Amino acid sequence: MQTEYDKALSEVKAKCLGCQKCALCKTRTNTVFSGGVPNSKLMLIGEAPGYYEDMKGVPFVGEAGQLLDKILGCVGFSRNENIYICNTLKCRPPENRDPLPDEKAACSEYLEAQVKILQPRIILLCGRVAVQSFLNTNTGITKIRGKWFEGPYFSKMMPIFHPSYLLRNESREKGSPKWLMWQDIKEVRRVYDQLD
Ligand code: URA
Repeated sequence: MQTEYDKALSEVKAKCLGCQKCALCKTRTNTVFSGGVPNSKLMLIGEAPGYYEDMKGVPFVGEAGQLLDKILGCVGFSRNENIYICNTLKCRPPENRDPLPDEKAACSEYLEAQVKILQPRIILLCGRVAVQSFLNTNTGITKIRGKWFEGPYFSKMMPIFHPSYLLRNESREKGSPKWLMWQDIKEVRRVYDQLD
């Protein structure tokens, strides 16, 4: 049976899939609404679809996405089971350029609705663009990653590195971006395990 919750989410999704509020609708192949499990305590918000995401209509399926799945998998999170994944922008910007302010403004209604309907307990802000959508700060991600912030609907939010950044930084030594990500994801799992 469809619950109020499912109904609200599928209405937002249907509106988003047909969205023509900004120019990205002219260049997209697919709108990328979400991946993973809607009824999750954990939500991850990235930047915007890239080439493969646009082709498939699913977030984080390219090389960065595969690394993300591995990192999440190391602490037992998986998109089949316990995480909901979406992006700040639902359509791919040409050549993967940074989202423009008017595109973010046009798309914010969908992300806000996703957060409002799902009310996850933990929100991971993956990379600079997601951080700027929620935290009013220009502080670089290197300084604020791994810290907890108060999020909407009594959630806890943590900025984490974007996997594309990790792909450009090979080292796993103590203090390297990959090592820091490992600390962060373990901390996320620790707090997740304490949720009631
Ligand atoms: N990068 C993102 O931020 N999101 C995706 O879905 C893929 C790559």
